[in-house]
Amino acid sequence: MEEEAEGSKLEKIQDKFRTVTLSFLGENILGNQMFYDDYTQFLAIPGPVEMHPKVYEAMNRHLYGHRTDHFREIYVDCVEKFKPTINTKQEVYFLAGSGSLGLHAAITNLVKPGDTVVNLVNGKFGERVEQITARFTENHHTVRVEYGQAIKPEMVKKALEENPDTSLVTITHNETSTGILNPLPEISKVVHDHGALLMADCITSAGGDLVEMDKWKIDFFVSGSQKCYGVPPGLAFIAFSEAAAEKMKEVPRSQDYYSDLLMYREKLAKAPDTPFTPAVSLIYGLQASLDLIHEEGMENRIKRHRLMGKAYRNGLEAMGIKLFAEEGYRSNTVTSAVIPEKAADFIKIARQFGVLVAGGQGTLKGKIWRVGHMNTVGPREILMITSVVELALKQAGADIELGKGVQATLETLNKAY
Ligand SMILES: Cc1ncc(COP(=O)(O)O)c(C=O)c1O
Repeated sequence: MEEEAEGSKLEKIQDKFRTVTLSFLGENILGNQMFYDDYTQFLAIPGPVEMHPKVYEAMNRHLYGHRTDHFREIYVDCVEKFKPTINTKQEVYFLAGSGSLGLHAAITNLVKPGDTVVNLVNGKFGERVEQITARFTENHHTVRVEYGQAIKPEMVKKALEENPDTSLVTITHNETSTGILNPLPEISKVVHDHGALLMADCITSAGGDLVEMDKWKIDFFVSGSQKCYGVPPGLAFIAFSEAAAEKMKEVPRSQDYYSDLLMYREKLAKAPDTPFTPAVSLIYGLQASLDLIHEEGMENRIKRHRLMGKAYRNGLEAMGIKLFAEEGYRSNTVTSAVIPEKAADFIKIARQFGVLVAGGQGTLKGKIWRVGHMNTVGPREILMITSVVELALKQAGADIELGKGVQATLETLNKAY
């Protein structure tokens, strides 16, 4: 028994330290030393993502007091530079907490006990909002769509007809767990025709793909720092409409304190200030990142994200890999694909080649893998990701002809530039 345990321990250690190198002949040469370590993995997961060196530099600055004009200037600069990234004239709030704090804040600020809420759910993150909602009202209903499929406007229409008192509908714009971009503008129209408010989780769409908060009538917008905005985790981005602010006045302030948004609104309008200590270093990083975003231009940034998504998807399809997300609704920032039966170890092998990709969540664990192509991912990175994915799949035992995927990615890029 003990020997067996010792044996598997040794195997684990050997596994951890082996180097997988491809010889010129395309053979496996298993060395005894791992070349890429945990510090040098390329983050091809859907957040946190690789960051621009200028963001690291900005965050490395000496701290400054947050109740000073110097910091206020930086904070307000971030607010003003953030607005055009989601096409809004509303104020934007940067709460210290991960993206989920923003989702929580949406419910605590917009839902009072007894309110009717419809949650649109087609993945793990939609489920999270559903769970938060259930803690604040008993009258919650779910439009549940199979993982990998998009939510369609007619499904929302039907749910609202069945629940005419609905005051809030929640949606995940880009469902990161499945790689689906839900048709938010069309759904928003249905919601507003009904007279309800719309909360949109834009955590993996904003900053990389198109979000038009005012035109699409998003009443409550949520995003997070560690995705397309290219800042470390720790900031929730929130913006809300006047209609949402009116609704907030009806909701008991006692059900939340830290994310009481009327308090944030009052403070920003006055000094400007935040009710609590802001995440000073992350705000420095955000300012640097927003400057980079505007240097590139939001329109170019969106085009780049869309092109990188397409180049990677084309690569996968040329390898014979099945994409998981429904055609016509595929995300431009996260791609999910089905792991071939024979290539169960593929994610582990990709890591040995220095590229960290994400597995499936919940029931999708072991079935799909996901790649985030956000923030700094350009032609160089997408070629690297595609080729490492191709190599790792091959090494894991998938039946693919090496080079076909990279070729398709190259051709997509060659056509576009
Ligand atoms: C669509 C979506 N919603 C919510 C979250 C949760 O955000 P966080 O992990 O920052 O709390 C994520 C994180 O991946 C996400 O992608």
